[in-house]
Amino acid sequence: MGRTMTATMLAAATILAGPAGPAMAKQADKMNDKEQKAVDARAAAIVDAMTFDEQVSLTRSQAGGSLLDLGIPLPSFIPEAMRQPKPAGALGTAGYVAAIGRVNFPALHLADASLGVADIGYLRPGQQSTALPATLSLAATFDPAMAREAGRIVGAEAFAKGINVMLAGGVNLARELRNGRNFEYLGEDPLLAGALVAEQIRGIQDHHVASTIKHYTLNPQESGRFVYDARIGEAALRESDLLAFEIGIKRGQPASIMCAYNKVNGTYACENEFLMRDVLKGDWKYRGWVMSDWGAVHSLKPSVDAGLDQQSPQDQDYFAGLPAAVKAGEISSARVRDMAFRVVRSMEAVGALDNRAAPGGAIDKEAHSARAQALAEAGMVLLKNDGVLPLAATAKSIAVIGRHADKGVPLGGGSSQVIPWGGVYRDAPGANPLSALLAPSYGLSSPLKALQAALPAATIVFDGGSDAARAADVAKAADLVIVYAVKPEMEGIDHADFALPYGQDAMIDAVATANAKTVVVLQTGNPVAMPWLGKVGAVLEAWFSGQRGGEAMAAILTGKSAPQGRLPISFPASADHLPHKMVVGYDPAKQRPLGIGVQYDPFPIDYVEGSDIGYRWFERTGAEPLFPFGFGLTYTSFGYDALEFRGGKALSVKARVTNTGAREGTEVAQLYVAAPGRTHRLAGWAKISLKPGESREVTIDADPWLLLSYDEAAGQWARPRGEYHFFVGKSAGEPMLDGAAVLTAATEKRER
Ligand code: BGC
Repeated sequence: MGRTMTATMLAAATILAGPAGPAMAKQADKMNDKEQKAVDARAAAIVDAMTFDEQVSLTRSQAGGSLLDLGIPLPSFIPEAMRQPKPAGALGTAGYVAAIGRVNFPALHLADASLGVADIGYLRPGQQSTALPATLSLAATFDPAMAREAGRIVGAEAFAKGINVMLAGGVNLARELRNGRNFEYLGEDPLLAGALVAEQIRGIQDHHVASTIKHYTLNPQESGRFVYDARIGEAALRESDLLAFEIGIKRGQPASIMCAYNKVNGTYACENEFLMRDVLKGDWKYRGWVMSDWGAVHSLKPSVDAGLDQQSPQDQDYFAGLPAAVKAGEISSARVRDMAFRVVRSMEAVGALDNRAAPGGAIDKEAHSARAQALAEAGMVLLKNDGVLPLAATAKSIAVIGRHADKGVPLGGGSSQVIPWGGVYRDAPGANPLSALLAPSYGLSSPLKALQAALPAATIVFDGGSDAARAADVAKAADLVIVYAVKPEMEGIDHADFALPYGQDAMIDAVATANAKTVVVLQTGNPVAMPWLGKVGAVLEAWFSGQRGGEAMAAILTGKSAPQGRLPISFPASADHLPHKMVVGYDPAKQRPLGIGVQYDPFPIDYVEGSDIGYRWFERTGAEPLFPFGFGLTYTSFGYDALEFRGGKALSVKARVTNTGAREGTEVAQLYVAAPGRTHRLAGWAKISLKPGESREVTIDADPWLLLSYDEAAGQWARPRGEYHFFVGKSAGEPMLDGAAVLTAATEKRER
């Protein structure tokens, strides 16, 4: 950059290098050789003291809870594994492996997951947990420190409940924007998703609880998840979904990884040699254990040979045949020892053998709930504001409209479902007990009450929004209107389109026609279409906001807290602009909670976009999204100038960011880089808070990972020499400063 770094510049550089710099994160995470050897030696001693049968016992988990405990009639499609009585010693979690007392190895209690310690159906009565905002909301913070903190909350609570393996760390990239599980994942970008999932995992493991990364890989939709074949070229896969896993694994060091249900290029993920043997355990030298998703195993020997170490609960128990296969010489006893060693070593590496999780530990509910609120606020994304927000403290009459906005906020459903402190409201009028259990549920943080508490002088009227004409009448009579719109999501269920359910699009249209001062708060786990966008005054994407979501939304709406989230996922203007106009294989009749009891014929999905997911697809096709990846407004404005950059062996970009508005605010300056002939990729970012008029120079070093392309023929990563166009912008669609840097050629061996 041709100038000496000043103290301020250094400070800025440090802020940036911390979260985004691979070198730092890698070193911090890496145990030194001595520590590594000590872990290996202790694990080896334990495994070698086990009998063969004891080693085998670690290669299978059984259901740790039983639907029988619900005391309700169970339909025939419920798998056998879920109707067995709860094993003695189990806690009611998704998976359980009995302790091996002789060698003092603890039982494994495997529980979901990323948004808090889950309990899908009150299988652990009274076991409520802090409901964190959706993982997608966490991605919207662009804040690795917050991901670490979210992980720590999960880890601390799991530990206090006696759970020592969390099935967290969902990092499937958002290739399908109608996927019912996107709320559990971290959006469409491999660097953002990988960097944040790593911190989430580290946070969990900080509490001596093993964490998992999942679902390995290409499981970006629920429709047909047990049967479809995800087809993609190797380079495209390595540069996208595998890259997210690679970053997450190398920085986060998860104890375990979960292979997915689907096939990848013709072979089931849990018996896929390329994915597990070649890439994960070969190229990346992963030392933890691979567990299957629940019901994802289709064979014994092919799975074990490919690298699967542990079968999770399922009816067809292939791994029961392991001892016989060893006896017959089909699988070696050395491989069985390796499978057991990987489990033991990982538990030792996270400190779970010396620090034993036990039920009944103390949890600081109040502190965790307060932090859940802070995380929710940080993840909310302001999409439109014509000046109506923040709400004036003088606002006198407000209409609050929205399905269950008097009761609470939607929670994501499925295996990751958390029962928040205080319980849930289930939106299931007249349903049978099982359907009620699987119905959309709401944490009891009432947006209405929270807003009233934040604006005690205002008169607030409420309408549930089920009748558009009635809602419009209520809106007309008020000074201003807040519509809390919902689109619940549930594992097993994808969407046909981007519409809001329950007639809400028509209702919002009618309300906004009656009163232009309408603010729409979206509580969704995916992009939505917003046909009424031009008519409303403001739109806030609040996602599923967790334990104190109502309070978090009120804080942003009233300006007590400033919006700072950025979209981790593109909002398309039309389904016609997407690689697939419909979810491939979508069948409305087969959208069932968790996909239980649904039969599909196998079908392929061709990922024609390759690694050009989301914003990169829009660049490639020239289509304009409704809101681009990285987008988010604040209550102030920012200017960019004074660009400097340095190329050569690396790319470092410096710019000055100035708060040009009247309020303090947070900017996320994003660096996008395109290798010659390729689309731009997010290569780093800087999140900074500035007071009105304040300027700061930020340095963003492009993550070296994102300058490389995978050269399939040579079997290595390469950075071709050439001009790398880059821009620093407010989002993928709003470049503020740009340039072209000449980078030298380089190749990287697979081990980085
Ligand atoms: C999900 C996994 C989950 C497992 C155990 C499966 O249906 O795909 O994400 O960890 O169930 O609950």
